Amino acid sequence: MILVIGATGKTGSAVCRLLAEKNIAFKALTRNKDKARKILPANCEIIQGDLSDKSRLYEIIEGVTHIYLATPPEDAMVAYQNCVIDVAAEHGVQRIVKLSGLGPSLKSKARLPRLHAEIEKHLKESGIHYSLLHSNLFMQVLFGDATSIKEDGKIYAPAADGKISFTDINNVAEIAVQCLQDDSNDNQVFKITGAQAESYNNVAVYLSSALNRKVEYQPVSYSQARQSMISAGYDEWLSDALIELYEIYSANDGCYVSDDYKKCTGKPASQLLTFIEEHSQQFA
Ligand SMILES: NC(=O)c1ccc[n+]([C@@H]2O[C@H](COP(=O)([O-])OP(=O)(O)OC[C@H]3O[C@@H](n4cnc5c(N)ncnc54)[C@H](OP(=O)(O)O)[C@@H]3O)[C@@H](O)[C@H]2O)c1
Repeated sequence: MILVIGATGKTGSAVCRLLAEKNIAFKALTRNKDKARKILPANCEIIQGDLSDKSRLYEIIEGVTHIYLATPPEDAMVAYQNCVIDVAAEHGVQRIVKLSGLGPSLKSKARLPRLHAEIEKHLKESGIHYSLLHSNLFMQVLFGDATSIKEDGKIYAPAADGKISFTDINNVAEIAVQCLQDDSNDNQVFKITGAQAESYNNVAVYLSSALNRKVEYQPVSYSQARQSMISAGYDEWLSDALIELYEIYSANDGCYVSDDYKKCTGKPASQLLTFIEEHSQQFA
């Protein structure tokens, strides 16, 4: 039995949709069943639980053989995910497919790559088979810019001219489902990126073309971006964590393009231009 952790989230909901389409049985974990019923496919088994409750985790993981593991970027991420790994090891879970970002490293100056690397190390040492999904910034994150695109004709980011190989969440979900089903993917890293790296200037050009009106990229400073995040309700820890990632993107260190998606699925990775054209209504 597959357990999807983070089932109502960005990648987890896409993983659940794919599993349901393929008629593969799974359990979807949420803290809020009513919210989950609105997001998840009908008839999917929804279980309620919070990762902060270890005793409940023992009940949830009972009978589970495979886990998709994605939890929000937050201070508690290492504690939550390591606890899942520990309980899974005690229950004899066969495989964990863990979502990380691009370039996890214990030596990274940025906290998210460092924390993902800590969890990956713990998972490797647990003896459970694993697949590690190293995804770049999601294309779908651009939906968060819809208001400024609509109202000011501008997209703001502290990314300078750095290029980013934006990743489509649906590409992540496809690889995740393959890894959950197929043990030939065990103990491997999958770098999941878009087909090419794009600057925010390119993003603005694509938006202008898809919307048939001018959209401009307005680079902003880290302190301006941090202030906007705080005003939008992000906590300080997450705002700082995201700024650290933008420091990486500004230095053009997020431009790596991988063909792992193509190797796995036989299809080319999603293109940002196509993504923007297909979702132009959300920015219009
Ligand atoms: N954003 C990006 O561009 C990007 C790119 C690459 C990698 N990543 C990595 O992706 C990961 C996040 O994955 P995601 O974006 O798919 O997830 P997400 O959208 O952040 O959501 C994850 C889900 O986790 C559940 N959750 C939160 N706290 C929980 C708790 N205490 N117990 C049980 N469930 C809990 C929530 O569901 P309920 O509310 O239903 O409980 C939520 O929907 C992060 O580690 C991040 O570093 C993000």
